[in-house]
Amino acid sequence: MERCDALAAFTEEDGALTRRFATPALGRASDAVAEWMAAAGMTVRRDAAGNLIGRYEGGDDGAGTLMLGSHLDTVRDAGRYDGALGVLVAIGAVERLAARDQRLPFALEVYAFSDEEGTRFGTAYLGSAAVAGRFEEAWLSRRDGEGTSMADALREYGCDPDALSGARRDGADLLGYVEVHIEQGPVLEEADRPVGVVEAIAGQTRFDVELRGRAGHAGTVPMESRHDALSAAAELVLAVEEAARSRPGLVATVGELTVRPGAANVIPGTARLSVDVRHGDDDARADAVAWLRGAADRIAARRGVELVTEPRFEHGAVPCAPELIEALERAVSSSGIEPLRLVSGAGHDAVQLASLASVGMLFVRCAGGVSHDPAESVAQEDVAVALEVLGELLESLADRDREVVRP
Ligand code: GLV
Ligand code: MN
Ligand code: MN
Repeated sequence: MERCDALAAFTEEDGALTRRFATPALGRASDAVAEWMAAAGMTVRRDAAGNLIGRYEGGDDGAGTLMLGSHLDTVRDAGRYDGALGVLVAIGAVERLAARDQRLPFALEVYAFSDEEGTRFGTAYLGSAAVAGRFEEAWLSRRDGEGTSMADALREYGCDPDALSGARRDGADLLGYVEVHIEQGPVLEEADRPVGVVEAIAGQTRFDVELRGRAGHAGTVPMESRHDALSAAAELVLAVEEAARSRPGLVATVGELTVRPGAANVIPGTARLSVDVRHGDDDARADAVAWLRGAADRIAARRGVELVTEPRFEHGAVPCAPELIEALERAVSSSGIEPLRLVSGAGHDAVQLASLASVGMLFVRCAGGVSHDPAESVAQEDVAVALEVLGELLESLADRDREVVRP
């Protein structure tokens, strides 16, 4: 918990926690985590995508590697547990082994991913995508709000954008990827459980919409001859809300909205907004996205504004591996807690890692389900349970491994 507090001091903004991909603030957080990894007996390295990786060797060279981890970047004005907690719990688990001088048969690799939130460049999972070999070359020319390209940002961070393919982790020796994360929703609190086991991560579609109307004088252009881009955007924002409210299980959000030229006495000429649509069922999500595209076309046509849409990213729902779900449930039970399964509406690095290895996730209860907000909070006792469950999981996977007779 002290380490979560310490990491919260590494921020780009005074008075708020904002730690975006490849920023000096992320570098300082990553340096602190590297020290904790080394102190826990891990060998530490960074890859070309800015991910930090600590490796704790196993006792049996042929027994493979289990990946643990989460991300160190944050949204704007974030809480201090989203991502960081999972990295620190993983290091805590290794520390406990090291303190007992214990080696599991398999090695552990703790990944502190450099980007999961996508806050800086608008496309999420940059760090884990590189590890999974799914980093798209075209992303390098995306620009942040200050006009810096991703390629330049990586160079400034000390990484070589031309060497990104080297960040790919070969999956052949991987036993799986296990991520501990705060729940970011209300389910565990309502069910009175400190932790829960994730069965799947919801699919997401994100795209940008630009509405191009006509700017003009706020005092002279008659209402009937206006093509106000913001008024069109306002209708679209409500359509996004309607799409979600009328479909069970769907959530949809407009989280970014920019208006230009942006002056009190000028009719908005262009409005640019982001749309984020999620559902546990891929067909339900596709249906909602298609309806929204139709609604946007209708709104734009009726108001005589031009509509341009641009995809950001998309992924289908990702199921966790049944064997890891069951192993986590056994670990939860042996900690004296009745297991509870839940679906994650939030995206996680496990989405990318699922293309490389079996994935499993353990959620930790958070107060009021609040996340992506500075009020995010977890109880120390719940974090202790997560550490215990992760320790139990490692022991059980090690026991299973010891039963396998290798030639
Ligand atoms: C990540 O936090 C996401 O689900 O947007
Ligand atoms: Mn987040
Ligand atoms: Mn997260």
